[in-house]
This record gives sequence, structure tokens and C-alpha cells, in this order.
Amino acid sequence: MDNVLDSSMSTSYEASVTICEGDFFKTYGLKHIRVAGKGLTSIVILSKPLDGGALRAVKLLSKEERFGGKKSKGYFETEAKILQNIQHKHIVEIFEACDCPDMYVISMPYYQRGSLISQLPKMTSQLTEKYMLELTSAVSYLHGHKIAHRDIKPGNILISVEGDAILSDFGLACIVESKQMPLTQRVGTIAYAPPEIIRGDWNDQINFYKCDTYSLGMAIWCMVVREEAKPGQTNHMNTIQQQRENIKDYRYLLEHLLEHDTNKRWDTNQLVSELCQTRSTMGHDLTRYFNQDTPVPLASEVQMDELSQANKTLELENSSSPETVSDHIT
Ligand SMILES: Nc1ncnc2c1ncn2[C@@H]1O[C@H](COP(=O)(O)OP(=O)(O)OP(=O)(O)O)[C@@H](O)[C@H]1O
Ligand SMILES: [Mg+2]
Repeated sequence: MDNVLDSSMSTSYEASVTICEGDFFKTYGLKHIRVAGKGLTSIVILSKPLDGGALRAVKLLSKEERFGGKKSKGYFETEAKILQNIQHKHIVEIFEACDCPDMYVISMPYYQRGSLISQLPKMTSQLTEKYMLELTSAVSYLHGHKIAHRDIKPGNILISVEGDAILSDFGLACIVESKQMPLTQRVGTIAYAPPEIIRGDWNDQINFYKCDTYSLGMAIWCMVVREEAKPGQTNHMNTIQQQRENIKDYRYLLEHLLEHDTNKRWDTNQLVSELCQTRSTMGHDLTRYFNQDTPVPLASEVQMDELSQANKTLELENSSSPETVSDHIT
């Protein structure tokens, strides 16, 4: 995999934005099929190229002030500049970033299985293991390129037709200039944000990489308990404790990812190192997978029953339907 973005990347790079004088769909020969999803700041349209190419998801951010116009510009530019400069199997690709008369537009591949939210009720231990490794790989890649996502949550994880987890929605991402940065803007989604963001004061020094590992931990927690997180919930580890004994693999990881003390919380290097040690004992060398120079040794390519030996009898009873919780803190 080519790493387009150099790890010494400075903060000065710009989004490459195309000015579109007319209607985006007409200009790019796309047929509007239906709404594929909605976020707090955008609406995503499933579209079909008139010339018969692959389906696209077109994300529209309104310029109208009543729909958060000024913020839209910032989210759009951030998402465009970051996605235009990175490339990873488990990170969404961008086709166009357009500045149109009434809206900002980002077009990308359409992932027909939607977000992880809809998969939560039917999560298995195999899928949890697979998505956890894929997302760890994506977040570790981002951090290696000095990027923090800052809004990792099931609604921002898409599932491809091949069944791979794809990290998306980079509107709140940032370039990490130093490990500790002042909290000039509170960003994230309440149920998934770490305590230092929830209770943070302006100008507190924040390690945004560790904010991401906390939110990644929350996404893993959601897969384990098979439901979305709710704002104000504080007993995540207790919920895990109540699960069956064979959840202990995740309990250990989650204790370190959901750790409130940021000095003790794992960063992605520690998480990768832990996964490489524990999972390689099952006969799979994950080191090369995280370094991106080998195909993904997951799902059908490996014996998933072996890979998830420790959890193989996992049959969680809680299958309540997920609630949509999307309280952005911005
Ligand atoms: N490429 C895609 N393929 C299929 N569905 C998508 C795609 N991109 C986004 N969606 C759907 O649209 C929803 C909103 O997209 P996205 O998260 O990018 O927008 P947002 O406004 O930034 O959201 P948020 O509420 O997190 O701020 C997603 O949760 C997902 O359901
Ligand atoms: Mg989103």
C-alpha cells in the first residue's frame, strides 16, 4: 500500500476543491436514487452514474446558515484535505470535493451495508475480532501520519459489500502538531468521547491520539455488548464484567482503552503491540498486517474459529435494537 501522506507532513497542505457552477448531480452525470443516510451536519445521497459506473455516496453539506453553513465549510475542507492525502484499505476513499452554489459536496464509494450501527444487534465474536483488527489498523495508520479522527463511533464506521470495516466521516479530524494540544474546541460525540473532553476546560492540554483510542475502545465495547453507547453512561466496564467469562479477551483490552487516566490509557502503538502478542500466539503474525505489507489475514483467509478461540462460545443475550445517539459536542 502506498502511503501518499508523508509522516513528516506539515499542517500547511490544502484541500483540492473543484468549483462547480451548477448542479453537482447534472455536472457529474449522476442520478439521485435515494437518501442513504443523515448525519447532524450532512445528508448522504445514493447516486448512480448515468454511464453505468459504480454506485456513489454523495455527501451534501448545506451552506445555509440555518443548517450550520459556516461550520459546514470547516467540516468539508477538513474532510476533503485529509481524505485526499491518505490511502488505506479500511479508510473511506474520496472521489470529488466540490464547492457548489448552495452546498459543499464530497463524493465517495457507496457502501451498501451502511454503518456499523445496523450490524450491532447481529454481531458475532468473529466479526468483533475482524472489525477490531481492521479499525485498529486504520487508526494506527492515521496516528502514524499525525492525524486524529476525533469522532470514532459506529455511525462513522461503514461496512463494505465484502464485509470489511471502513472508517469514515473525517469532518472533525485534525492534524496533531504536538502530543499535547490545547482544547480550543470541544469535538466528538458525547457517548463516545473520553472524560477529558466531556469535562475539559478550554486550554486544557489534550492528547488527541488517546481521545481516539478511548473512542475506538467505545466502538469495540458496542460490538461486544451489541448496542450503541448512550450519553451519560459511565459503567462500561461493569457491563463487560457482567458478560460471560469468555469475554475476558476484550475486558483486558477495554480496561486499557477506556482508562480515564490518560497516562495509563493505551495509545495505538500499545494496542497494536498487545494484539500482535496475543493474536500471534494463535499462529497468525499480525505485525505484518498492521504494517500494511501483507494481505489482511482475516475472516475467510484464516481460521476464524482459531483466531477467536478465546471467545468461541460467545453468545451474547442482549440483542435490543440500537438507539441512535448522535449528540455532537461541537
Ligand atoms: N459512503 C457511504 N456509503 C453508504 N452510506 C454512507 C456513506 N457515507 C455516509 N453514509 C451514511 O450517512 C450517515 C451520515 O454520514 P456522515 O457520518 O459522513 O455524516 P455527518 O453529518 O458528518 O455525521 P455525524 O452525525 O456523525 O456528524 C452515516 O452514518 C451512514 O449511515
Ligand atoms: Mg457521521
